[in-house]
Amino acid sequence: MTTLPKPRQPLLRTALPGPKTAEIMARDQQHLSTSYMRPYPFVPDHGEGVWLTDVDGNTMLDFFAGIAVSTTGHAHPHVVKAVGEQMTRFTHVCLTDYPQEITTSLAERLVAHIERPGEKWRVFFGNSGAEAVEAAVKLARNHTGRTHIISTLGSFHGRTYGAITLTGSKTKYKRGFGPLLPNVSHVPYPNPFRPPLGSTSETCGQAVLDHIELLFQTVIPADEVAAFIIEPMQGEGGYIVPPADFLPQLRELCDRHGILLIFDEVQAGMGRTGKMFSFQHFDVQPDIVTLAKGIASGLPISAMLARESVMTWPVGSHGSTFGGNPVAAAAAHATLDLLEGVEKHPGCGESLMENAREVGTYILAELRKMQSDFPFLGDVRGEGLFIGLEFVGPDGSPDGKLRDRASLEVFRRGLLNLDCGEAVIRISPPLILTREEAATGLQIMREALAAL
Ligand SMILES: Cc1ncc(COP(=O)(O)O)c(C=O)c1O
Repeated sequence: MTTLPKPRQPLLRTALPGPKTAEIMARDQQHLSTSYMRPYPFVPDHGEGVWLTDVDGNTMLDFFAGIAVSTTGHAHPHVVKAVGEQMTRFTHVCLTDYPQEITTSLAERLVAHIERPGEKWRVFFGNSGAEAVEAAVKLARNHTGRTHIISTLGSFHGRTYGAITLTGSKTKYKRGFGPLLPNVSHVPYPNPFRPPLGSTSETCGQAVLDHIELLFQTVIPADEVAAFIIEPMQGEGGYIVPPADFLPQLRELCDRHGILLIFDEVQAGMGRTGKMFSFQHFDVQPDIVTLAKGIASGLPISAMLARESVMTWPVGSHGSTFGGNPVAAAAAHATLDLLEGVEKHPGCGESLMENAREVGTYILAELRKMQSDFPFLGDVRGEGLFIGLEFVGPDGSPDGKLRDRASLEVFRRGLLNLDCGEAVIRISPPLILTREEAATGLQIMREALAAL
């Protein structure tokens, strides 16, 4: 196979959608689930690094990484090699019944990033983020003997029954699907840009904590609450970073009431924010952590990590046929090699985590500069390559229509992007994005915003 020269700019050979794209999209509409969304006319054919080429030969710069999944970009040689080698050894045996060195060592590597001195953690492997969340909630109930779970508004935890119940971002995920899981409540997320409960950006964390205590006095007996689940940085809800003191104080509140603290790191975890887990930007340690998306560069695997003292469910009480399958585990090892810097990626410094931090800081600074030219960019926020761009109307309210137009203008110029929240574009590229490639994406964004 010939290696194509690495493109430095998007290359649009046809009008979008091209003829093959249009033809496949028409077939897709005929045969696939009516629930799938199709925000843009794009049908991938192959990818290399941060570039994806569609079936008509149009090459786009990928600023969304399949929703924060393609950590090492597309077809990374180190990942391809690891997957290929494992495929030639064995593809499946079933981790629920037999140990496999590749998953044992993966668990050892994951807990090494979380364990503090004197702590021991264990890992349960699944296939998707929702499965990791289900496992976390089942474990929390089983361990505590309590039933109630508290989640946050704006959250997204997945599409299975437990996970949609916990999700607090949009009613469309729940409409027509009830009855859902009983004993689940939602409290506001401390969003400094849109502070809830009449608070300010400085006081929003305390306001949410006070609100929880109020619920404990009035409607939810605290001693019936098994767990509080929260995204330490909220993804689907708008790429929101909470105030620095909020999570440590939430930890204290949970400890006071014997409640387990679950951090859902499915979207913000695995190096994306410049640290392995987004909660590590704050001085806080949870009881349970859920991981998926970026863990294996696109192969399906998820993990639920819990303190040993919490993972007390009995033998046979939980399992999965495919969970922790060895091919996905091989991809996860290769992804970790690059994240940790055991394997170097050219042009990305010592590790992909470091690269995410540096390139993310650069993008954030450049986008903040753009705010003076484009007053409708109400907020630019994030950490590392987990960046949200909120569009506002003249009165400061979220402007989802403007965001949709902006997102399409950006796409038309060859930059793949994705919305989130009410009026936010998320920037979640592969962590191999170089500064030069970031500059290309920023230039496209500037042109698209100027065209609005
Ligand atoms: C924070 C978070 N948790 C859970 C999920 C569900 O993951 P999956 O779609 O793999 O089930 C998502 C997906 O977007 C997510 O962002």
